[in-house]
Amino acid sequence: MARPLPAVVSLADGNPVAGASVDVWQADADGYYDVQRPGEVPDRNLRGLFTADDEGRFRFRTIVPRHYPIPADGPVGGLLKATGRHPNRAAHIHVEISAPGVRTLTTHLFVAGSPYLDSDAVFGVKESLIRTFAQVDDPALAAEHGLPNPFRHVDFPITVQRGGRP
Ligand SMILES: [Fe+2]
Repeated sequence: MARPLPAVVSLADGNPVAGASVDVWQADADGYYDVQRPGEVPDRNLRGLFTADDEGRFRFRTIVPRHYPIPADGPVGGLLKATGRHPNRAAHIHVEISAPGVRTLTTHLFVAGSPYLDSDAVFGVKESLIRTFAQVDDPALAAEHGLPNPFRHVDFPITVQRGGRP
């Protein structure tokens, strides 16, 4: 069964934002970004720039990221230590949406069930940004999308505001 695609829509009227740019980047299944594994993974690994269709819809295939610690050996580490906080970020995908006439939105998509959702090191978690990466057991659908079965699926409609920054 086909699933609806997530879409970029306008807050004011719910209309789709056709042709919006959807820029995503994330850590890998071990919690590392590409720049932390030079020579081990391809450049720009787990980064993508997509263009929404005429109905604002987009989709991409990736892996579920892992939570990770931010670097804690410099001033940030000193600050974390002084405030009694740990350095870990809950598992997330970074998302930036831009389009002509729209305020650029930089946000996160957090993985439900990840450790540190309630204590993210940079206070980035909001309830509305947490999504379930649901397991789907559907051999026909997996084959249709060229995926192994079962696979994980997440839908994350994105609402943006019309009007550029002043
Ligand atoms: Fe991150």
